[in-house]
Formats: sequence, structure tokens, C-alpha cells
Amino acid sequence: MRNFMITGGAGFIGSNFVRYLLDKYPDYHVLVYDKLTYAGNLDNLLDVHDEPRYAFMRGDICDAAAVDQAVRDYQIDTIVNFAAATHVDRSLMEPDEFLKTDVTGTYVLLEAARSHGLERYHQIGTDEVYGQVLEGRSTEEDRLHTRSPYSASKAGGDLMCIAYYTSFGVPVTITRGSNNVGPYQYPEKVVPLFTTNALDDKPLPIYGDGKQMRDYQYVLDHCEGIDAVLHHGQLGEIYNVGTGSEMHNIDMAHLILDTLGKPRSLIQPITDRPGHDRRYALDVSKLKTLGWQSRHTCAEAIELTVRWYAQNQWWWRKIKSGEHYQAYYQQQYAGREVKS
Ligand code: NAD
Ligand code: DAU
Repeated sequence: MRNFMITGGAGFIGSNFVRYLLDKYPDYHVLVYDKLTYAGNLDNLLDVHDEPRYAFMRGDICDAAAVDQAVRDYQIDTIVNFAAATHVDRSLMEPDEFLKTDVTGTYVLLEAARSHGLERYHQIGTDEVYGQVLEGRSTEEDRLHTRSPYSASKAGGDLMCIAYYTSFGVPVTITRGSNNVGPYQYPEKVVPLFTTNALDDKPLPIYGDGKQMRDYQYVLDHCEGIDAVLHHGQLGEIYNVGTGSEMHNIDMAHLILDTLGKPRSLIQPITDRPGHDRRYALDVSKLKTLGWQSRHTCAEAIELTVRWYAQNQWWWRKIKSGEHYQAYYQQQYAGREVKS
């Protein structure tokens, strides 16, 4: 593995992974292949722009001819697929985009991996495919119990990967990550949304009773988990990646406000997300057998993230002042306040 095609590499986790890979492996070359949807942003990759081992190509993973050309032109031997429609709330508004990118797009990339005989196809999956887990922890063997168009689409992508491994011998691996936080996350996701609202003394819209639980992991811990699977994982296998602990959303909101020295009165309860999964919780012992260990707790990951957003306002103010973001915010949040 030397010539990587990182699909979705201009997004949040993908761009962090690109930087991680180029830093850690001096002989690796990276092609970022990204459609640049509202979530893709070349500002995320500014610091690798002049790196000779890095190249960028704008393209859609559903476009088989363009994917084929990119694999050929850059002599790609490994695809790591981060490209996806990723926000659960948007999947309730426009499910078709999720089905196209997360299922059909994955199929197109798998076909390219098969026809070019690539050394590896790695799929970035999510813990949401296990559905809500009220007790215990999800292992990789657990049944899939998807409840949103996003998680159903991601499960479809994972199943297609296993099908290509089993039917055609494509050398596939899959990781299923919990909620990531860190630099360059689009401020529709809860931690950057709450942090940037708090910095502007705006309300933090918390869904329902705020007692839902998520495993907030630091994005670089996730990158290290993907790296461990790429280099030491078994083909055809799935590996969970997370801290292995969880935090209530309301405690996450308190932590953000306390870190910034802002009042808790900024928290604004709003109507709940339809089909809101109450809790995700991962058993990460399988990944630990590869020598990987998460370095940050949920609280440490959130604090680091809050500080990055406080110090990098140039990055998110451009996004939040844009027309796309403003229209989305209005559509998603207007009139949902719950009076106490
Ligand atoms: P993101 O929304 O920040 O970035 C997605 C990227 O994919 C963007 O750059 C976008 O332009 C690109 N993209 C979208 N559709 C495309 C298409 N058709 N063709 C090419 N590029 C396209 O997402 P993220 O949070 O970085 O998530 C990356 C991956 O990790 C996704 O597969 C997601 O399901 C998975 N994941 C995310 C989290 C999380 O907490 N963010 C957790 C677990 C798994
Ligand atoms: O678990 C992994 C998944 O984590 C990834 O696969 C997804 O791509 C990623 O978006 C994320 O999904 P969530 O739905 O868990 O993340 P989100 O940041 O949207 O919400 C986190 C929690 O915060 C969830 O319980 C909903 C709640 N929330 C979210 C928003 C946007 C709020 O209370 N208010 C909000 O405004």
C-alpha cells in the first residue's frame, strides 16, 4: 500500500486522516477524491496543499468513469472511503442523497477495487448501524438494527463490502466508529454547533430531555484505529472504534459551556429528533487485540475540540455566515423551542 485514494478526504474525518497519513508515512502518496458537497471544504486541507505527495481531484464516487480514471491516472493501490452523506437530521429531510452516495457510491468504489485488483478497500462505517443500545455494548457480530435513513444507507454500504469480499475476493476491511469530534467538523454536528453558538452567546438547541448518550471520541484516535486495521487487520473483518465509554448530551453541553465560561442558561430544549437513538455503546476489544488504544476520554476530546473552535474562528465563521448554512439552520431549528 503506497498510493492511496482517500474519497471524502475534504470532509472532517477524511481531512484529518490525510494529514495523519502524510505525516506518519513519508513514502505514501495521497489522492483526495471528493465531490465538495456543502460538507467538503478545501480549507480543511490548506496545510497539505503544497505537499508533493498530495493531489486533489473533484469527483463523485457515484461516477464510475471518473473513479476508474482516477484509479488509473494515480496508480492507486488502496481506497479508503470516507465519502458519504453523514448528518442524521439531513437524512430525514432528503433520504435519496444518502441512498445514492452511501450505497451506490460504495458499490461503484468496490467495482473499481475489483476491476483494478487493488490491494485494499477500506470502508469507514458507523456504530449507528447497530441501532440504539439501551444496555450493554455492541460487538461486531451483533445484528444490524438501523432506524434512520442515514444508518440504513451506511449498513447497505457495509453489507455490499462484505458481499464483494465473499463473492469476488475483494480485500475489504471495515471500521465502525462512534461520534468523532475535533478540528474541521462542519458545525451542523452537535459539538461544533453548540461550541460556535456558545461563542456567540446564542442558544444551544438540545433535543428532547438531553439524556441521550454518545461515545464522543477524538478524531485522531479514530484515525489511529483505521491505521491499525489497514496495517494489521484481517481481511473481511469489521472493527469497532471508540473510547468504549459514553456521555449524556446534557453533560456534553455543560462541559462546552463550562470550558468557555458561558452560562448554562444558554441551553434551549427543543422538540426531539424523530426516531432519535437513545444510546450507542461500542465494545472495542477486538481492535485492542491489534495493539490500538484510545488516547482521549470523551471529556478530553470535547475540551480539545472546544479550544480548537475558539482559536480557529476564521474557519467556521465563513461557513456559518454562508447562505447554505443559514437556510439549513432556519429549516432545521425554527419554531422547535419547548417552553419550560
Ligand atoms: P463529512 O460530512 O464531514 O464529510 C463527507 C465528505 O464526503 C465531504 O468532503 C463531501 O464533500 C464528501 N462527499 C459526499 N458525497 C460525496 C460523493 N458522492 N462523492 C465524493 N465525495 C462525496 O463526514 P465525516 O464526518 O468526515 O464522515 C466521514 C465518514 O465517516 C462517513 O462515511 C461517515 O459515515 C463516517 N463516520 C462519521 C462519524 C462522525 O462522527 N462524524 C462517525 C463514524 C463514522
Ligand atoms: O455515531 C456515529 C455517528 O455520529 C456518525 O455516523 C454520524 O455521521 C455523525 O453525524 C454522528 O451522528 P449523531 O446523530 O450521533 O451526531 P449529531 O452530532 O447529529 O448528534 C449527537 C447527539 O446530539 C444526538 O443525540 C443528537 C443530539 N443533538 C444534535 C444536534 C445537531 C442535539 O441535541 N441538538 C442538535 O442540535
